Amino acid sequence: MKGIVVNEFGGPEVLEHVEMQIPKIKKNEVLIEVIHTSVNYADIKNRSGRKWKGSMPFVPGLDAAGKVVEVGEKVQQFRPGDRVICFPRLGSYAEYAVANEKLTFSIPEQLDFTSAAACPTVGFLSYHLLKSIARINDGDSVLIHAAAGGVGNTAVQLAKIFGAGSVIGTVSREEKRQVVKEAGADHVIGYENFADRVKEITEGKGVDIVLDSVSGRIFEESLDCLSHFGRLVHFGNTSGSTGTVEAKQLHASCRSVLGFSLGTTRKERPEMLQDTAAGVLQYMTTGQLDIKVGKKLPLRHAREAHQLMESRKSVGKIILEVN
Ligand SMILES: NC(=O)c1ccc[n+]([C@@H]2O[C@H](COP(=O)([O-])OP(=O)(O)OC[C@H]3O[C@@H](n4cnc5c(N)ncnc54)[C@H](OP(=O)(O)O)[C@@H]3O)[C@@H](O)[C@H]2O)c1
Repeated sequence: MKGIVVNEFGGPEVLEHVEMQIPKIKKNEVLIEVIHTSVNYADIKNRSGRKWKGSMPFVPGLDAAGKVVEVGEKVQQFRPGDRVICFPRLGSYAEYAVANEKLTFSIPEQLDFTSAAACPTVGFLSYHLLKSIARINDGDSVLIHAAAGGVGNTAVQLAKIFGAGSVIGTVSREEKRQVVKEAGADHVIGYENFADRVKEITEGKGVDIVLDSVSGRIFEESLDCLSHFGRLVHFGNTSGSTGTVEAKQLHASCRSVLGFSLGTTRKERPEMLQDTAAGVLQYMTTGQLDIKVGKKLPLRHAREAHQLMESRKSVGKIILEVN
């Protein structure tokens, strides 16, 4: 089969489109013919050496949509021909991927492979962040950083679906504002002095929830505009720096700082994702959630896809067409 391999850490040029072996399944796994996969920011971090701790070479990619072609002897829920999304064990930038049955989910017939491929990481993550980690309540105000991106744009839509009051999104470029508005945000602002702007919008109170994937200065400033009883969820560090919080910033104000990783959840508590999958796919089936696809490229153009995401010019998801 053809796939993308990383032999050494580096820029997009280290992504090589080569011939490779079809992976072998274990007893509890399914082999999937990948139709589409997607680019996630973690792929950039893995490729450049900021995250990857596994062996070399490796196939990048966290999620895929495709068709089951073979099932392990202990697999109960799937058979060849089923249309599925999955979080594969060995990377998804390839014509075939293997995934544990617990990390494989049926695609409802109303969804095409493009929508399905856009959903696993950003849909599951945004749903879980808002519902289970930030415990969103009706009327809550929500600040979402990098709101035009894959996670951000999905989280804006889901916050509204979950009954948020005011949703505020941050973006770095003027031309990204429109897609965040279209996703349902009430306000779209830049990063410059965003805490002051958020306080203005919320009449001094601050927001009930912040979703922060940028970290560093953005994390610290987010605490300046988090209301009493507010929840700040830290789940990424696109800025490359870490933010700090002092205990005294939390106690009297009844505020919480929470962390979440879909990777750790997939590894240690995959069963937690069953309800999440059902919820996300239900909203997609009814059309309430429409995860934005900003760009589709063939798999062999993975370098271009990574360049686009790193340029901070992409909006929504970048899909890689495999088959
Ligand atoms: N915890 C988890 O399990 C989990 C899972 C998936 C994703 N994530 C995190 O969620 C975030 C979004 O992921 P995504 O795949 O949906 O990517 P994305 O949002 O589509 O693209 C990344 C965006 O991050 C923003 N950004 C802010 N500072 C940046 C910087 N210094 N360099 C590059 N981009 C920067 C850019 O938007 P602006 O230019 O508008 O700021 C950029 O468009 C990432 O931090 C990712 O690691 C976490």
